[in-house]
Amino acid sequence: MIFRFYKSMGTKNLFFVHLGSFLKTDMEEIKDYINTHKDRFIDELIELLKIPSISADSKHSQDMMTAAKAVEKALLDAGCDATELCATKGYPVVYGEKIIDPNLPTVLIYGHYDVQPPDPMNLWDSPPFEPVIKTTKIHPDGAIFARGSCDDKGQFFMHVKAVEFMIRTNTLPCNVKFMIEGEEEVGSDSLPEFLKDHSEKFKNDIILISDTGMISNSIPSITTGLRGLSYVEVEVTGANRDLHSGIYGGAAPNPINVLSKMIASLHDENNHITIPGFYDKVVTLSDGERAEMAKAPFDLEEYKQSLDIGDVHGEKGYTTAERFGIRPTLDVNGIWGGYMGEGAKTVIASKAYAKISMRLVPDQDWHEITELFKKHFISLAPKSVKVKVTPHHGGQAYVTPIDSVGYRAAAKAMEKTFGKTPVPQRTGGSIPIVALFEEVFDSKTILLGFGLDSDAIHSPNEHFGVWNFLKGIETIPYFYKYYMELRD
Ligand code: BES
Ligand code: MN
Ligand code: MN
Repeated sequence: MIFRFYKSMGTKNLFFVHLGSFLKTDMEEIKDYINTHKDRFIDELIELLKIPSISADSKHSQDMMTAAKAVEKALLDAGCDATELCATKGYPVVYGEKIIDPNLPTVLIYGHYDVQPPDPMNLWDSPPFEPVIKTTKIHPDGAIFARGSCDDKGQFFMHVKAVEFMIRTNTLPCNVKFMIEGEEEVGSDSLPEFLKDHSEKFKNDIILISDTGMISNSIPSITTGLRGLSYVEVEVTGANRDLHSGIYGGAAPNPINVLSKMIASLHDENNHITIPGFYDKVVTLSDGERAEMAKAPFDLEEYKQSLDIGDVHGEKGYTTAERFGIRPTLDVNGIWGGYMGEGAKTVIASKAYAKISMRLVPDQDWHEITELFKKHFISLAPKSVKVKVTPHHGGQAYVTPIDSVGYRAAAKAMEKTFGKTPVPQRTGGSIPIVALFEEVFDSKTILLGFGLDSDAIHSPNEHFGVWNFLKGIETIPYFYKYYMELRD
């Protein structure tokens, strides 16, 4: 530590800068640093949130570039020695590094600067790209309302600021690299190929991601599993044109009726998915593992209340936490066709469409599941219609062990700053690239998220608690410290 600090600081600032950190051992300085700089941290994040970096909408391709450049600048300002906008076949990946000693381990921070489309706009209380801070019941210290505040700009920015702190105070104990991509919300399509070509550049010993949530501000948790995904679009075609529903009704096929019936048949009366072979590779948990899982705090009444639903819905024989954590699903994300304007029009549409997602669990393979879906869905169609299935994107599920050095370091860091041991929890969401990381780098991913389910990611009025943002910045430096200690 002392050696390194000589090396990078020179002797000029030695006495003044470092007297403090020798007296105050540990990284206790992080709290003071946050107190001194928190207004600037929030202002910087707000500037980033003003950029509408919507990867799904090509009208925003210029904004995507603006956001990528802003992230690169933030990494330089934080003290990275080298940064780069790496071209991919889609939007660029932002790279940054601080290598203090090539012989020391390297932490790779992954995040994404793209955000979900803000629609429907009329449900936002304030414009999605004009961030405002408001207090809520859950966030009495205020929350930043803006698209991307929690998913994922606010969360990867915690790492930028934590690294800034460690670089400025010479407490960074190992190397750090950043990979902040721009296509996560559209399936990270360009990333697999990019990774294969740049595996050396991003080589690391452990991957740290803040792009998930925790149970609550008083119940810290670490995500130990993400679900995989297969996303498809289907099209059902009846007659060669839209028809008068009186003249033809009851005699010609109605693609909307047919599609509805096909979709309905994808679940049985117990809400099991009926696609043959769908469950073949699903890893079933032992009773012991399920009992362990059931220990994670979960309040069903509160869950129903927060969503304003009369009851939950799902696969028979499983609890709600199991339904979103360890079981695969099939959901229609959108369905359309026919007349959707004002008033009534008596018509039988020629076509009906739906977008369908399947959330997958280990060891289901998303390519295989896509094929099984396709085969089954086509087989469901009566002779009167034609069916087209177009796969969109997907990714494999990921589970991280809780006895790895990385997990234990993250747990210890949270314990230090929350005063409580975090609960391991499998979540329902997906980050498609994570499973591939393990293949390419042979390193574990630690999902250290600070968002809450109630932060409304992907929904109108997305927000991120100021407390959560600052708690993340406080916790992250301890991850590095304990990671280095536990490795020895
Ligand atoms: N950050 C989310 C994933 C997430 C959120 C996981 C909360 C666990 C808890 C990510 O940005 C996301 O939205 N992923 C998509 C993947 C898709 C667009 C390929 C998802 O899960 O729908
Ligand atoms: Mn995300
Ligand atoms: Mn997202």
